[in-house]
Amino acid sequence: MAIREIVKEPDEILHKKARPVEKFDEKLSELLDDMLETLYKNDGVGLAAPQIGILRRICVIDIGEGPIELINPEIIKQSGIQTETEGCLSCPGVWGTTERPRKVKVRAFDRNGELKEYKGVDLLARAFCHEIDHLDGILFTDHVIELHRED
Ligand code: CO
Repeated sequence: MAIREIVKEPDEILHKKARPVEKFDEKLSELLDDMLETLYKNDGVGLAAPQIGILRRICVIDIGEGPIELINPEIIKQSGIQTETEGCLSCPGVWGTTERPRKVKVRAFDRNGELKEYKGVDLLARAFCHEIDHLDGILFTDHVIELHRED
């Protein structure tokens, strides 16, 4: 396992659309392990592959309830609205208020190529939306209501 370097704004890779994963092999498992290690090292809640320079549809999330790995994820249902502050490991020193659905249901493959479903409410719903946005080259700063910077 290895800790990967996090790509920061204004790197253009953060604004590109990632391609789906096609091979569920040992290399994918190693990448997921590295992503989780990098997430924990940086005290993050979520990390998407483009944030370590890999344009594939992969993200990892841990809101303190154990790791969730999402491969080729899709939001299949959403409801409600939450307005909260969020940040991003690729945008150090920047926080912003965003509007997100309060509840989301996500369908994604795990590292073994099995299709799974996850339900997220509040923080987890926000993390799902934030990380899946990264796979389409969208950062939270793209739809922030109010931005805060730390000098
Ligand atoms: Co982010």
